[in-house]
Amino acid sequence: MLSERTQNTILITGCSSGFGLETARYFLDRDWTVVATMRDPHANVLPASDRLRVLELDVTDAQSIARAVDAAGPVDVVVNNAGVGLINALEGTSIDLLREVFETNTIGTIAMTKAFVPQLRERGSGVVINVTSSVTLRSLRLLSVYTASKAAINAFTESLALELEPFGVRARLVIPGGASETSFGANARANGRLGKDLPDAYADQLAQVTTGMQQPRERFTRSSDVAEAVWRAATDPSCPMRLYAGADAIAWAEAV
Ligand SMILES: NC(=O)c1ccc[n+]([C@@H]2O[C@H](COP(=O)([O-])OP(=O)(O)OC[C@H]3O[C@@H](n4cnc5c(N)ncnc54)[C@H](OP(=O)(O)O)[C@@H]3O)[C@@H](O)[C@H]2O)c1
Repeated sequence: MLSERTQNTILITGCSSGFGLETARYFLDRDWTVVATMRDPHANVLPASDRLRVLELDVTDAQSIARAVDAAGPVDVVVNNAGVGLINALEGTSIDLLREVFETNTIGTIAMTKAFVPQLRERGSGVVINVTSSVTLRSLRLLSVYTASKAAINAFTESLALELEPFGVRARLVIPGGASETSFGANARANGRLGKDLPDAYADQLAQVTTGMQQPRERFTRSSDVAEAVWRAATDPSCPMRLYAGADAIAWAEAV
């Protein structure tokens, strides 16, 4: 057991779709109390349950984080899953867009972790699970900024794990491969993060990347792979620091 309370509680960011939504369902099915957080809360995406609470949370907003800490009460496991994608050449990426990606993927994750660590340390138990990406394992074109935002969290989490370990608090990474079943690509496209303002000189590279993304793949990641990896990170104290989620991520990790 993670805590002395009768039911363990997990708080997950970015539960409106994709990996976060599936992870919330997975833990609800296993009798955990789930605090599912969303920028725009709508409980109807999850099955009705007296163990479910839906809270508003924007990880780029310090006041929103503080309100979520107060409203959530004691939490045993924090999953930093909220994230945004960006495909563009560096030359096509405005500094404002770069900041937006880092504010969510990097600073948002670190700020959430900082907000919840005190209660975990005081109770002497708990787990912080940060969701990054297999693109941090293999360099790919037009992903320099996105990869940097996620690789920073790999390094952050591995260092943080050392300083929290003496207090009985664990930190782990879940590293998914490519998943087309989530809203990730659509959200990037809808928010001007897919090739917007790309200089013509890079047009062929973008065409190759997007064509490659549309090809059927032998190995890929399902949301259920991510939920299972989060489950292991939350419940198995002897699990490795990095949990690869999805057949493609596992193959890439083996090739490194
Ligand atoms: N899909 C992939 O191929 C893939 C591969 C590796 C890693 N990942 C990572 O996996 C995580 C989940 O992605 P996904 O594939 O499930 O994509 P998704 O369906 O787009 O889900 C992303 C979630 O993050 C939320 N979010 C975005 N900005 C936020 C903010 N400022 N505050 C709070 N929530 C915010 C979104 O909420 P809204 O509905 O409000 O936008 C959405 O719920 C991300 O960290 C992503 O980088 C994805």
